[in-house]
Amino acid sequence: MEVEEPPLPQDNWHDLEHELFLSTFKRFPVTLVRGQGTQVWDDQGKQYLDLVGGWAVDSLGHCPPVVVDALERQAKTLIHTSNQFYTIPQIELAQLLVQNSCLDKVFICNSGAEANEGAVKLARRYGKLRLDGAYEIITTRDSFHGRTLAMTAATGQQSFHDPYTPLPGGFVNVEFNHVEAIQEATTARTCGVMLEPIQGEGGVNLPEDDYLERVRSWCRQKGILFILDEIQTGIGRTGTLFAYEQFKVEPDIMTLAKGLASGVPIGAFLAKEHVSVFSPGDHGSTFGGNPLVCAAACATLKYIVDHDVPGRVKRVGDYFLARLESLRQHFDSIAKVRGRGLLIALQFDSDIAQEIAMACLERGLLVNKVKPGTLRFMPPLIITETDVDKAIGILEDALREKTRR
Ligand SMILES: Cc1ncc(COP(=O)(O)O)c(C=O)c1O
Repeated sequence: MEVEEPPLPQDNWHDLEHELFLSTFKRFPVTLVRGQGTQVWDDQGKQYLDLVGGWAVDSLGHCPPVVVDALERQAKTLIHTSNQFYTIPQIELAQLLVQNSCLDKVFICNSGAEANEGAVKLARRYGKLRLDGAYEIITTRDSFHGRTLAMTAATGQQSFHDPYTPLPGGFVNVEFNHVEAIQEATTARTCGVMLEPIQGEGGVNLPEDDYLERVRSWCRQKGILFILDEIQTGIGRTGTLFAYEQFKVEPDIMTLAKGLASGVPIGAFLAKEHVSVFSPGDHGSTFGGNPLVCAAACATLKYIVDHDVPGRVKRVGDYFLARLESLRQHFDSIAKVRGRGLLIALQFDSDIAQEIAMACLERGLLVNKVKPGTLRFMPPLIITETDVDKAIGILEDALREKTRR
């Protein structure tokens, strides 16, 4: 007979995590157990307004009914087969991605880092076949491209490099928003430039008006690939389905992940026809693009496109930015407000972001400290003006307690 384990005491989860997990995450001291829309609840029943959105993943909010229904239907039909066979949700997702972007071909994988790895492999393959073996990729300082060894090298932040040297070669990091730095770093070895249209983990750093256009044109002039990492900025986050639409450029390769499947792990890279040089066996994945994940992604993407979620992101994002800007007028400790759509940062004049984030947590608001002096907001894309008002009220209260006006 099976004996039921006694339930664990409610305050035991954090101790157990410390005992069992490799210590990589600095977690907030709450255990989340449930989510609905823009709200989450912890194991003590406390409710929070979520402006972190699973790190820009929960695009349609927590447990969105269209995605839950799609997952339920697909889970009862076919969860997984190998990529040795055709499966329908995968093809439907590729169709949706191609119809709604400027790109022609798709590969589906499991995470952002893996999408970037695939993009770099495709660029190197292109380099071997079309650019006399060129293999180097230029990336920018303060970028973030993922946690695999190669993406650690691609990421332009020394603090990510130091613990893991020597890193794989083939990446050159240059200053962001500086076209000449890219031009100077371009050699016969260069096969591409990889950029985030807006740097997310680097602190929500916006490109200067013509930066992306000028880099695009440099890449065209040199015959090298212009690769956009839209893992954080894509799928409506910045007020258009993809951020490149706002900067008058089209990438040769684009990577996606995060918001694409409402929290079911996914990554993807897309390429223009002329760059699609892979042959069977050049790349692959066991789980990538399985029916369950693709059903979630199709439901997410269809909803975002059919309901003009990017238009709504622009409207609510502008409202959020304006409310933060007026908060800045009242608090000397706020140095800058910046962002696009619902990818927004609040920069302080000192390293108080963690303290403010904790004060918000106590008051039922989840925010992200992206840098010691900077908070980042990347809420579900369905957030309302009323949610924004509530968040501003809590932030104001936290700032009043922790800083001077
Ligand atoms: C721009 C960008 N690229 C790549 C990644 C890595 O994605 P993942 O954590 O899914 O591997 C991230 C994650 O934050 C990101 O923001």
